[in-house]
Amino acid sequence: MDLRQLYFIGIILINLCISAIGAQPRKPVDVPFQKNYVPSWSPDHIKYKNGGSSVDLVLDKISGTGFQSRGSYLFGHFSMRMKLVGGDSAGVVTAFYLSSEGNEHDEIDFEFLGNRTGQPYILQTNVFTGGKGDREQRIYLWFDPTKDLHSYAVLWNMKQIAFFVDEIPIRVFKNSKDLGLKFPFNRPMKLYSSLWNADDWATRGGLEKTNWANAPFIASYTSFHIDGCEATTPKEAQVCSTAGLKWWDQTAFADLDGPQYRRLKWVRQKFTIYNYCTDKARYPKTPVECSRDRDI
Ligand SMILES: *[C@@H]1O[C@H](CO)[C@@H](O)[C@H](O)[C@H]1NC(C)=O
Repeated sequence: MDLRQLYFIGIILINLCISAIGAQPRKPVDVPFQKNYVPSWSPDHIKYKNGGSSVDLVLDKISGTGFQSRGSYLFGHFSMRMKLVGGDSAGVVTAFYLSSEGNEHDEIDFEFLGNRTGQPYILQTNVFTGGKGDREQRIYLWFDPTKDLHSYAVLWNMKQIAFFVDEIPIRVFKNSKDLGLKFPFNRPMKLYSSLWNADDWATRGGLEKTNWANAPFIASYTSFHIDGCEATTPKEAQVCSTAGLKWWDQTAFADLDGPQYRRLKWVRQKFTIYNYCTDKARYPKTPVECSRDRDI
């Protein structure tokens, strides 16, 4: 056997091992903004760069801005690379979320709460099912999110919703239907992102106000990866939730694996500021999903 053959056998073995461990989502494919997204409000506050492969969102005294996916999706893997507003960003919020329409909506949220220069951002996550949210978790990040682009991703299938920051799971919300909890499984969602002034609540609970002398505030985006089951009609949604043929429907993605749970634990132990699961004043009885999601 020559070296070349040995090399290929090696590659095959490595791939077999990877697919057996398997729970790391597929690598995102970078695409231009236009392929997957359109502005949803104040289009003049979105600046296109590098032929549309990156965009800047601009917030000034007049307006913030936002964009949304062209398609609606029921399950899949969605990610974005973002560099948040730097310097004095107190009062400024950047969000990346998935949401269905109508009442009793489902929603999966990343919200980045700005801060005074040198003070840490907070990443707040939340999950709404059937119109009910109130499941906030807040963490500090282990890096400065205003210095470089970092990836923020959601993996959503029938079994779980997992939130990732640079491939590290920071939260999991498992399907707890058997415990009487609603899980998003039949309402397609669109992806949204926006940058706006929220100085009535965002920084130190609204104590720190936006300093407009620093405007415009700019958040940068790239990558725009969407690998989802596109569903516009109820019939398409039905196929997305029952066919089970996509990679994220396979058992390897039904749960986080051991190394991922260890990393999630590291995030919880080192970076958690707030977790609704441990807020006894608010929830004297711990919400049912908390132990399954390994939040307690
Ligand atoms: C802002 O910085 C203060 C002081 O370090 C901290 O208490 C707070 O959690 C930070 N983040 C926000 C969004 O308020």
